[in-house]
Amino acid sequence: MESSSLVDPHEKSNVLSFSSAESAYIFMAFVFIIVIATLWSITLLFSSTLSKIKRASSQPTLPPGPSPWPVLGCVPEMWRNRPAYKWVHRLMQQLDTDIACVRLGNTHVIAVSNPELAREFLKKHDAVFASRPLTMATRILSHGYITTGVVPWGEQWKKMRRILMSDVFSHSRVAWLLRKRTEEADNLVRFLYNQSLQSATIINGAAGVVNVRTATQQYSVGVMRRMMFDKRFFGKGRDDGGPGQEEEEHVGALFTMLLHVYAFCVSDYLPWLRWLDLDGHQKTVSEAMKVINKYQDPIVNDRIRLWRDGMRKEPEDLLDVFISLKDSDGNPLLSDEEVRAQVTADLRFISFTTGRRGCIGVGLGSNVTVMLLGRLVQGFTWSIPQGMEKIDLSEAKSLFKATPLYAHAKPRLNPCVYFSLLKSMS
Ligand code: HEM
Repeated sequence: MESSSLVDPHEKSNVLSFSSAESAYIFMAFVFIIVIATLWSITLLFSSTLSKIKRASSQPTLPPGPSPWPVLGCVPEMWRNRPAYKWVHRLMQQLDTDIACVRLGNTHVIAVSNPELAREFLKKHDAVFASRPLTMATRILSHGYITTGVVPWGEQWKKMRRILMSDVFSHSRVAWLLRKRTEEADNLVRFLYNQSLQSATIINGAAGVVNVRTATQQYSVGVMRRMMFDKRFFGKGRDDGGPGQEEEEHVGALFTMLLHVYAFCVSDYLPWLRWLDLDGHQKTVSEAMKVINKYQDPIVNDRIRLWRDGMRKEPEDLLDVFISLKDSDGNPLLSDEEVRAQVTADLRFISFTTGRRGCIGVGLGSNVTVMLLGRLVQGFTWSIPQGMEKIDLSEAKSLFKATPLYAHAKPRLNPCVYFSLLKSMS
């Protein structure tokens, strides 16, 4: 049948082509859509820029500070003017401000030099500032942020802080460690007494002059070493109660770590320069950590084995406490790595600070420091060594005094007190 054709030729042409009037309509609609879309985009762009400007103008401005370079910020100035803290201090005096902002790479570093403002950061707004930055030195020190002190805010920090507060540095635990602290305080007096007698300590022709820096550093770490590992010496030590080569190396490495934690390190702000290790911090810190681990890890590993084999059942020092802590299901609370990381004793000075990240060892730290001062003053009369006009109090480019403190120590107690200490040592 003719009419059986499925497509009418006219209909076909309607599908494939438009009349000129229809084409004009479609073209106009197309132009209309483009115009609307363009206007819409311009409006959006304008309103977002406007709101950005509004937001910026309603936000408080940053504290005053030097103009930063693109990308690098003020890293070049800080590098040229090391030590960084002195440069920042000078800068704040020049700007006559108690709070300053120095941009380093992408980081805004805020420096505060007024106690009231510092309290606002540490106490009033401690929740906002409770985290700690990720840096090369703190990562190495904390074995990848599994300890407490330098760890960013988070579950691991909460876990470790809770354990230390409730199980490790509680009042009863600090009291439990008293005998060990007393033994080390006795050893300090013994060491100083021996030094005060030895002609080997003659400086400027005067006998009895001691290096107070060495004595106090060794005592501070010695107390921690005794409480942590129940050990005075890693090796044989010295007959006069002083440090052997092993203790000198261990204490040296701990203080090196202390000086590098939060020190100005270029690659912390410009990570793409890490491979150059421009300031040598990475090498120094890694080597110091190797020394610390060399002395501590074998003791920790051995002790973990003793507990596993059931050969140790009662805690006798802090290391035992760390290893034997259990959760409610009787599983170890700390992993072997967490124990190894946590035993690198906290060696901090300046103050205990406050707020959420305040020192948890305030009681113990005060105890140890007051005992140190008490024994120094109780056991000896101190004076400036003969021939020395005054004590040099100038600063080094670090936390320390530029030169160690040498002082003349004259025993002031009945000699039998010192003899009893010497006897108890032999
Ligand atoms: C004279 C002795 C001490 C001083 C001056 C001192 C000072 C400090 C300071 C300033 C902080 C704050 C660090 C920060 O803001 O990140 C701190 C934190 C800390 N201290 Fe001490 N400390 C001393 C002794 C101790 C002792 C004996 C222990 C325990 C063995 C200890 C354990 C800690 C811990 C675990 C933290 C980290 C707290 C946290 O981040 O939550 N400190 N200490």
